[in-house]
Amino acid sequence: MQILALGYVGVETKDTQQWASFAEEVLGLRATEAQDGAVLLRMDDRVYRIAVHPGNRDGLAYLGWEVPNEPALEQASDELARQGIAVERGTDEECARRQVRGLLRFVDAAGSPLELFYGQRFNSVPFLPTRPISGFVTGQLGMGHVVVRTPEAQAAAEFYTKVLGFRISDYFMDSLIFLHCNARHHSIAFGSMGPGRGLHHIMLEAKSFDDVGLNYDLVRERQIPIGMELGRHSNDWMYSFYMQSPSGFQIEYGYGGRLVDDSTWTVTQLDQPSIWGHQRHELPVQAPA
Ligand SMILES: [Fe+2]
Repeated sequence: MQILALGYVGVETKDTQQWASFAEEVLGLRATEAQDGAVLLRMDDRVYRIAVHPGNRDGLAYLGWEVPNEPALEQASDELARQGIAVERGTDEECARRQVRGLLRFVDAAGSPLELFYGQRFNSVPFLPTRPISGFVTGQLGMGHVVVRTPEAQAAAEFYTKVLGFRISDYFMDSLIFLHCNARHHSIAFGSMGPGRGLHHIMLEAKSFDDVGLNYDLVRERQIPIGMELGRHSNDWMYSFYMQSPSGFQIEYGYGGRLVDDSTWTVTQLDQPSIWGHQRHELPVQAPA
């Protein structure tokens, strides 16, 4: 299966307006409201990368994985059917809502709803961040990465390697498994990280280290809860900090992620998640289960 990148993430929330202000005022993303009431967040030349849907809970709604074209989507559909995975095809109306040409829906081994898509709409007007920052690293690396809490990390990782064609990047002891589908060190990772399941964080990669520092100052000034202080991860080398989103899960705002070359990459086990920093804080609102 030819998955290129994490194309988009869908989130469900009780308060889309709070999300729109958080995205525009803090993260530097552009928010527009779709006809169905969803708030679409733009961070590059795609019409959106995060879709925030009104609902009666807060948490992950779906992950959108991009394939290059229609034949790749058809091939993926055949492969999923062969492996006995129940797949639904997106209707014309659903494709129009997602602003893609083709869409498949199924559920992964961690219980997260997944979408495979091709042909997402571009916006030919250049992306202009809402704050004076340099923008985000996306393109062939996709929109960032997600980390999902699950007690079945091993089964989830096997689903991504055996069914979806991902490769393991590395392990943090027995608690986290990191996987890649392109040169971004990881597009997804799984781990238990305490009880419950659901989205732990979405990582957005800024084009400049100063963007991270400026954002850190702003988050502190606004007293937005910080889940992890500034630090540098030992596996993807990301300089980052974590803040709480309006939905409870965290946003990692980072810079300087390492790239993986599959022809030379060796899987390792890490003894600590960070080289320095990343001091943890208890968050007032726990991430949704
Ligand atoms: Fe991360």
